[in-house]
Amino acid sequence: MHFVSSFDHRKYRPSPVLPKPDRRWPDRQLTAAPRWCSVDLRDGNQALIEPMNPSQKLEMFRLLVDVGFREIEVGFPAASQPDFDFVRHLIEDELIPDDVTIQVLTQARQPIIERTFEALRGAPRAVVHLYNSTSTVQRERVFGLSRDQIKALAVRGAECIKAEAARAPGTDWRFEYSPESFTGTELDYAVEVCDAVIEVWQPTPDKPAIINLPATVEVSTPNVYADQIEWVCDHIARRDSILISLHTHNDRGCGVAAAELAVLAGADRVEGTLLGNGERTGNMDVVTMAMNLYSQGIDPQLDLANMDRIIHTVERCTQIRLHPRHPYAGELVFAAFSGSHQDAINKCLAQHNAGEIWDVAYLPIDPRDVGRDYQQVIRINSQSGKGGVAYVVEQHHGVKLPRWLQVDFSPYVQAQAERSATEVQGSVIASLFDRTYLTVPGAITLGDSHVERIDDDDRVVAALDCDGQGFEIDRRARGVLEAFARGLAARLELDIVVVNEHRQPVFGGRDGETFVCVQISVDGHRHCGAAKGHDAALASFQAVLNALAHADYPREIPTGATRSTASAPVS
Ligand code: KIV
Ligand code: ZN
Repeated sequence: MHFVSSFDHRKYRPSPVLPKPDRRWPDRQLTAAPRWCSVDLRDGNQALIEPMNPSQKLEMFRLLVDVGFREIEVGFPAASQPDFDFVRHLIEDELIPDDVTIQVLTQARQPIIERTFEALRGAPRAVVHLYNSTSTVQRERVFGLSRDQIKALAVRGAECIKAEAARAPGTDWRFEYSPESFTGTELDYAVEVCDAVIEVWQPTPDKPAIINLPATVEVSTPNVYADQIEWVCDHIARRDSILISLHTHNDRGCGVAAAELAVLAGADRVEGTLLGNGERTGNMDVVTMAMNLYSQGIDPQLDLANMDRIIHTVERCTQIRLHPRHPYAGELVFAAFSGSHQDAINKCLAQHNAGEIWDVAYLPIDPRDVGRDYQQVIRINSQSGKGGVAYVVEQHHGVKLPRWLQVDFSPYVQAQAERSATEVQGSVIASLFDRTYLTVPGAITLGDSHVERIDDDDRVVAALDCDGQGFEIDRRARGVLEAFARGLAARLELDIVVVNEHRQPVFGGRDGETFVCVQISVDGHRHCGAAKGHDAALASFQAVLNALAHADYPREIPTGATRSTASAPVS
């Protein structure tokens, strides 16, 4: 039978390739990290169903600073009042560290540029990022303007920015220009427009301008983008006074690959977002690109070790859950479910010594580098035993353990089996579970506590005691557990993130009791705890305290001002 489809490929055409006999980038290798610029707070934020609120923006900004970004695009202030207010807040409250430069986006029109400079008044340093669309489709179908008219728009914008900057000499200004939709623009024309802008700005090697070449929509294979970048690097004027910057989107799923090849082709700088949030399929994911460098023995110049904090903050600010198989960061990326994979990993790990080059089958990086441990990797090895262990716990405690708690518990049972060198009895497993999660020695004790609802938030007030030192937390957040964890984090000056929570009624026990177990990350390391009680909220607080008892933290309760971390912003 003849197959009839409405799926008609003839509707599309291939994007043009560049004949380039002098292509050099394929023979190169990455040897150093590019300059990074985060666009989470601008491009990422513009793409959200619900844009970040001021406290989420601040939380994201602090994370970006802590991760090590030295250039952060913080908004499009002339287009958005919340962005304008956020830029003012950063400047007026002196929240920009000395080694960080904020960047803002502007269109090429005078009133918009004036408003942009108003937002930046008093900034110590700033990058003003000018853009206009240059592609054929935008010129012909959207604006109805000629090549010369589009170029004139860019030049007028560049002149206006130069004049505004001269009026505010107290700020150390730098300029960036993006021929938006660069990959859909004739290359010689893109260079013509960039040259015209650069002619206005007159950058020098000491004070270079940034020419950012966006794959606004990814339409070709990454090698084509790399060719385009190499061509621009070879033909643009004053190359020694220009930083070539990349800004790729992920429409074909190759945003990272395109940026990597384009760095080989000569680019100096890369714009992207943490974990790839952004328009449509997202911006280039800086975490993946940086971790790719790291896995090749190159210092990524970003600190991604506390991956749980990054994931949690990005999820909270974007309200988008991370895919469990997201490179390097997803919950499942270091898990091996197949027996042969596990066996190979086990053998390699057994031969790996600290300080040696990492060479472990199926694991491109050491999971511990991003706060995961081997127990999370070898999930099935412990699974045979785990099923039995979970059954015993269920019989004794009346609760079904979620998988992550089974995985966490497994090594305790194995260690017990090794210690006793005999079969471990059910009652021993049950009391081991009790000591490990429910009545944990050294856990901070919970005194009087109450929770109340205020608008959309929950407020938690709790009295606590750590080795005889009484202290109190009083915190508001979305969700009681979040409020409690944030309050505790701020008070103990730790970075505490609730990674997993599970609650269920206890069956066969006292009436109406709830079992709550949690997995928290403390300064990037995961720990589990559990509790039972008639009040589920209080049980969840106790579970957090029991989990925290496994962490290594100073037992002295700080009395001074709390450290500000992204996970524990002052609400
Ligand atoms: O994707 C894009 O082209 C942009 C520009 C404004 C740089 O975000
Ligand atoms: Zn973009």
